[in-house]
Amino acid sequence: MPKEQILLNAGDPDVEAPQYAINEALLGIIEGGMNTHYPHYSGYPEKFKDAVVDYYKRFTGVEYEPEHVIPAAGSSAALYVALATVLKEGDEVLMFTPYYMGHKSIFDGMGVKMNTVPLLKEKNYHPDPGVIAEYVTPKTKAILLCNPANPTGTVFNEEECKVLGDLAVDHDMVILADEIYLHFVYDDNKFVSIAGLSDEYKERTLGIMSFSKTFSMTGWRLGYDIVPDKYLEKANQIRGMTAPRPATFVFRAGISCLRGDFKYVDERRAEYEKRRNYFVKAVDQLGWPCHMFEGAFYAWFDVRRTGMGSGEFLEKLNESQNVRLSPGSRFGADGFIRVPLVKPVPVLKEVVKRLKDFEASL
Ligand SMILES: Cc1ncc(COP(=O)(O)O)c(C=O)c1O
Repeated sequence: MPKEQILLNAGDPDVEAPQYAINEALLGIIEGGMNTHYPHYSGYPEKFKDAVVDYYKRFTGVEYEPEHVIPAAGSSAALYVALATVLKEGDEVLMFTPYYMGHKSIFDGMGVKMNTVPLLKEKNYHPDPGVIAEYVTPKTKAILLCNPANPTGTVFNEEECKVLGDLAVDHDMVILADEIYLHFVYDDNKFVSIAGLSDEYKERTLGIMSFSKTFSMTGWRLGYDIVPDKYLEKANQIRGMTAPRPATFVFRAGISCLRGDFKYVDERRAEYEKRRNYFVKAVDQLGWPCHMFEGAFYAWFDVRRTGMGSGEFLEKLNESQNVRLSPGSRFGADGFIRVPLVKPVPVLKEVVKRLKDFEASL
């Protein structure tokens, strides 16, 4: 009998949103009226912005005014608004590789060239601070910092953030801070929001945030930008043109999340940590060096010793074991494989078993 398919090629959590968020959305739909009409009749966008300001201060220490918050239908929409606000065709952006392919696809679409600083396995996927400046050219208008990073899980420390922040100040670059995984950080690693390190950084940082991972709300499409004064008018203009706004009752659910006790999020973090501790070690023992990641929830392992590219490796794995994972080539790192740990340990054990069988068949 063919093996049942295991799909682990997207970072889509395996649980539902917190019950209080579901209740709020349902109540909103049932009550109707201002919950189900254009959001500006409801006051929810304003209440949402207030909740974001309080949340941000609580978890990052950085203070904003409600007008700096631009809600969007998921952080992919928020990313587009932020990137289109500060970059145009022909510009360059400094970022790290391996990178999240969603960033690349927006840059490709805009005609923005990526100058990618390598994060190396040998350095535990942290940058060599001394070389970063070499990737800045007169056309480099922004630094994209995905912290914690997808796919490597790198949690950039304060010193690294300062190197990037100073570089941005010295070369008058904008900082694009995608911090959607900030709640998923393990061991002694500590999340630092770059905007909180100095006012000079803050006034040039656009933050990008999402409910998708933190509250397992990938299909709800709720995210936002945090935009400093200098870029606010342009960002609002771009948002107005593309109109990727959340549904009114989804705002209501979002507020309940941001104002909640975060027990749900703590439990998710503990669960991802448990999965990480099991899966990373188990894959590593197969002889495919697997990175004990610091943040987010992606396992990342090295299959270069097989002599196969990641596409070929995964094609063969899928053919023989019916497991779908993501090729590192999509993240700018051929020879590596990404596994989002969005299934419980028993399923991950089955994945390891199939990887082992596959390894034995090579
Ligand atoms: C780093 C990063 N940013 C943004 C997104 C987009 O998330 P969403 O549009 O669901 O908010 C993802 C999704 O995987 C991601 O990993």
